[in-house]
Amino acid sequence: MQSTEQNILEIKRLKAEKNAIILAHYYQTGDIQDIADFVGDSLALSQKAASNSADIILFAGVKFMAETAKILAPGKKVLLPDMNAGCSLADSCKAVDFENFLNENPGRTVISYVNTTAEIKALSDIICTSSNAVQIVESLPNEEKIIFAPDRNLGNYILNKTGRDMVIWNGSCHVHEEFSLEAIIKLKKENPDAKIIVHPECELPVRLVADFIGSTSALLQFTKKDKGNCYIVATEVGIIYQMKKENPGKTYIPAPPRDSTCGCSECSFMKLITIEKILSCLKNEKPEIIIDEKTLVRAQKPIIRMMEISEKLGL
Ligand code: 13P
Ligand code: SF4
Repeated sequence: MQSTEQNILEIKRLKAEKNAIILAHYYQTGDIQDIADFVGDSLALSQKAASNSADIILFAGVKFMAETAKILAPGKKVLLPDMNAGCSLADSCKAVDFENFLNENPGRTVISYVNTTAEIKALSDIICTSSNAVQIVESLPNEEKIIFAPDRNLGNYILNKTGRDMVIWNGSCHVHEEFSLEAIIKLKKENPDAKIIVHPECELPVRLVADFIGSTSALLQFTKKDKGNCYIVATEVGIIYQMKKENPGKTYIPAPPRDSTCGCSECSFMKLITIEKILSCLKNEKPEIIIDEKTLVRAQKPIIRMMEISEKLGL
């Protein structure tokens, strides 16, 4: 068996040989973030997938992210090192149920969060991420009626911000719904100068105690620009690796989930990706993301609409 260092060297060699790039989400472990060509949140990763000159994209993240990359770059080979890297939020919205929901709520513009399967995207008018959700909704005329899916917490956050006529799908992320308000308040008492920073997929009581709410990259930017020195971070713990890397002088305390042994919140799907699996995937060029042509073409339109709005707004 090779050491991790040997595996990393082999990954670098294969990347060069095959003209491949590794795109990694902030929730990946530090070693994976370090070998990636690009690390970002779901919006930045989609933008990168749409504009690069590689032949192969290896996605260190979860399946809906790799599918989004394939939809945006259908001519490239898109690899996901473990096909079991799903998402509880995407799983909470099945295409057959969603079609019924759309039929029960006709005449509405369908905005779906990027955390959805390709089939759900194909049924949507516009895709959004947590980085641009509020702005995408605000870009529509005031009177436009909206369906938002699948995250009820992000949906309610947008509803409160925009006051738009929105019907919201009742889905959620098991990681972001698990933060313990009591534990966060206790941490704040122990660290009175700490700012509580929260991902919008968290439940309302946690959002209500937040000093700042934003997507993973918005939280990262906040900790960079803010004058404070200590943060209680209510999102998946992987982002703290990047926060420490970019601002090593500050203190980052992971917000604990209700039922915690490690004291921090990990997305078990994200953590299925390992250096060993990346190496094997790059070597064998599988598992590969395959999406049927009809779904891919239909899913492309709402993602491109998101990219166009984001570009116009400079996001
Ligand atoms: P971002 O859009 O902030 O990258 O979040 C993705 C995600 O999966 C949150 O759980
Ligand atoms: Fe999905 Fe939640 Fe994991 Fe994000 S953190 S990938 S929403 S399960």
